[in-house]
Amino acid sequence: MKVLVLGSGGREHALVWKLRKSLRISKLYCAPGNGGIAEDAECLAVDLKNLDSIVALGEQVRPDLTVVGPELPLTLGVVDEFTQRGWPVFGPSKAAAQLEWSKSFAKEFLQRHRIPTAAYAICDSVEEVREALTHFHAPVVVKADGLAAGKGVVIAASKEEAASVAAEMFSGKMVGGAGSRVVLEECLKGDELSFLVLSDGERVAPLVGAQDHKRVGDGDTGPNTGGMGAYSTVDIVDDKMRDWLVHHIAKPVVEGMKAEGAEYKGVLYCGLMMTARGPMVLEFNCRFGDPETQPILMRLESDLVDALEASVAGRVSEGDFKWSTDASVCVVMASGGYPGTFEVGKKIAGLDEAGAVEGVKVFHAGTTKRDGAFYTAGGRVLGVSARAVELQTAVGRAYEACEKIRFDGVHYRKDIAGRAMKK
Ligand code: AMP
Ligand code: GLY
Repeated sequence: MKVLVLGSGGREHALVWKLRKSLRISKLYCAPGNGGIAEDAECLAVDLKNLDSIVALGEQVRPDLTVVGPELPLTLGVVDEFTQRGWPVFGPSKAAAQLEWSKSFAKEFLQRHRIPTAAYAICDSVEEVREALTHFHAPVVVKADGLAAGKGVVIAASKEEAASVAAEMFSGKMVGGAGSRVVLEECLKGDELSFLVLSDGERVAPLVGAQDHKRVGDGDTGPNTGGMGAYSTVDIVDDKMRDWLVHHIAKPVVEGMKAEGAEYKGVLYCGLMMTARGPMVLEFNCRFGDPETQPILMRLESDLVDALEASVAGRVSEGDFKWSTDASVCVVMASGGYPGTFEVGKKIAGLDEAGAVEGVKVFHAGTTKRDGAFYTAGGRVLGVSARAVELQTAVGRAYEACEKIRFDGVHYRKDIAGRAMKK
């Protein structure tokens, strides 16, 4: 069969790497892909911001399955367009993806279905924010309602700061139209967990849990990023917790969406805070996480294409995934200045030596290839990933590989999975 993956980041490289192992796939495409992905799939040009461009690509390739990586094409309705034409596609419809593209919709949905989440207020003006703040204690979390590529959430230390951040969001200067509505939230404390499930609109099959590291600096300091690294182990979610999360969060979401007429198919990413009051939903993503997908797929033993097809065809079952009990980790190597402004086009050295470290796979997130050499082409450049029986070993191998890679301005966190290893 012919499979097309849409996207160009580390997540898509991991999807392509895993799909390529399937004996069922005769031709694998990725659009637009990147320098590293081009080693594993045929890369095709596309503008993922433009639905017509994606449909034209579908017309040209006629894939037996399309796997949508990032949220933007889902938000534009690529699944609706492909489904209408009878082209099998993995992911939620535009209406179902609203769980990600509108935080106010997600919060009200959670409340309607009595799924645990932080107390909140939805505000359409600075006056409404000031009034709502009287009901909150500092710190307060201020969120832009729409998609903001990880830049739409600020944890304000004081109510004054919360009001000024909200004003900045409303002005359009901070995150454009995504900030025309603002959600205030109670600030929760605890460990974060990325809990992903596969859904066919009715049934769900959980993936192994993972933890992202969103802040740019060691010890969770500095601004938020798209994710600087992630790890996955057996211990991150035990069987009892996994069942609880399936029955109290994932299933109620999928059943609630179906009851509301927006069947949720694809991967549902539940961003959770494990608080003293129990797990609470921080956010939903309507797609695989990046970089969580890299360590998650490194632990997947069964065929990914079978599982994705089960979602499209409406036959998901708990046994769709077979997982290794090994631990895995991904360390993101970023361009100097990221998540602020950064330069691209820096030559990357040491990739072969890094890839030769036992148990290591270097996923490309933002690279291009020219005359046999790789150059940086994005903020997050590489996802250096490793798998081993023990988390400690996997982390050691990932960092050993990172030390072999060099490019101007490179930076990465030195403490990915550090807290898990101290426990
Ligand atoms: P979100 O995009 O909603 O996941 O927010 C991005 C990050 O902000 C999360 O991964 C958390 O680290 C943090 N965050 C979001 N909501 C809250 C909350 N209610 N309490 C504490 N931290 C939060
Ligand atoms: N790693 C967080 C995300 O994919 O949104």
